[in-house]
Amino acid sequence: MIPYAEPFKIKMVELLKRTTREEREKLIRDAEYNLFALKAENVYIDLLTDSGTGAMSDVQWAALMRGDESYAGSRSFIDLKATIEELLGFPYMLPTHQGRAAENVLFSAILKEGDIVPGNSHFDTTKGHIEFRKAVAVDCTIDEAFEVNYEHPFKGNVDPEKFEKIIREHGTEKIPLFILTLTCNSGGGQPVSMENIKQVSAICKKHNIPLYFDAARFSENAYFIRTREEGYADKPIKEIVREMFSYADGTTMSSKKDGIVNIGGFIGLHDPKVYEKCMTFNIMFEGFITYGGMAGRDMSALAAGLRESTEYDYLEGRISQVRRLGERLIEEGIPILKPIGGHAVYVDALSFFPDIPQSEYPGQVLGIELYIEAGVRGVEIGTVLVDRDPISRKNRYPKLDLLRLAIPRRVYTDNHMEVVVWGLKKVWERRHSCRGLEITYEAPIMRHFTARFKQKG
Ligand code: F0G
Repeated sequence: MIPYAEPFKIKMVELLKRTTREEREKLIRDAEYNLFALKAENVYIDLLTDSGTGAMSDVQWAALMRGDESYAGSRSFIDLKATIEELLGFPYMLPTHQGRAAENVLFSAILKEGDIVPGNSHFDTTKGHIEFRKAVAVDCTIDEAFEVNYEHPFKGNVDPEKFEKIIREHGTEKIPLFILTLTCNSGGGQPVSMENIKQVSAICKKHNIPLYFDAARFSENAYFIRTREEGYADKPIKEIVREMFSYADGTTMSSKKDGIVNIGGFIGLHDPKVYEKCMTFNIMFEGFITYGGMAGRDMSALAAGLRESTEYDYLEGRISQVRRLGERLIEEGIPILKPIGGHAVYVDALSFFPDIPQSEYPGQVLGIELYIEAGVRGVEIGTVLVDRDPISRKNRYPKLDLLRLAIPRRVYTDNHMEVVVWGLKKVWERRHSCRGLEITYEAPIMRHFTARFKQKG
């Protein structure tokens, strides 16, 4: 059989700068041990996020050139709206400048103080927008999701019993929506099965609770349904996507992921009443309803990106690269979250650093050490990110402390991934001498972006 290779060739390249280990030690010290504070040019391989960092195709660049920048009713908007209706089935759509803006607009319209928002490990901006409104996000993910080595094919799944318990305890009036995140980023890029989507939808329907998707990585989720769930092996991704969305009342979307564009988001809706409410907030916060913070050209590139990301060949190339990185790390004995997720490999920092307590941020320590070792930037998904309890202000300690290595779409080769493996191996060899961290500054909400640290003595 012909060996596997990427389903694209490269037309344009961006040169990378290399730094020395001594330079990196100083750079990270000057950044007060926050990887977000580094200059990107001083990062050799940037796995901070797969958000807005993908490489657009020639088709997308061509679409960009043909963008219509009319303030109202542009052709770019009309094309994007038609694409979203065709692929996801939503007749109403509002563009926003990115995913969290879609959350802001939607929650302004439907969420109020004291509400409960169940979901499967809400993403941090989603949770931030919920808690900012003095509402509560409740995690109903299956318990297996928190067992690092448990090989469940759909670790993003919701435990229906947990969801029903919340309904019993709080009643339905306090639950304005359920948010299903596909794939579940905070849980490790883990998918939700079609069966589970159906189950959640049935409970929502029974209790009249609208079901919303946080669809940032919806096509990656569809790929896992196709490759892991019985009955889907021969179905085109676009058909699986249509079926997934047939259970949703609405969606928020960060187009920077599976839209393969550098900026953008949207809200998709079936209910004209919710659409009307959202319209006002969209105009206030984002822009007129036919551009909502996006340039016409970006909407055109997004329409093309959505079509490409729902092709099987694209998804196989993307997800198999992430899988190969994960498999190489397993081979080298590095503890990672299993099964390997769709957009990222998550290194288990608690197993990596048994000597560093969670109160000293082992995920953050691993991020810093990997940068010093190899110039690779990941991001902590652990105690720093999870933040303090909004009421007690005490540190929350998540079950998992992870370093996420998110792979940008179509950007790096497997050789780059080998540098990542090498870097982690080097840190692994000196793991018992790595030092914990202490926070010297933190913002009152979403602290991980701007927190400052110092190394423990
Ligand atoms: N929902 C999920 C599941 C996400 O992963 C993100 C962003 C958002 C919503 C918010 O979208 O960034 O466009 O405002 N995740 C990025 C990440 C930042 O690195 O995982 P946004």
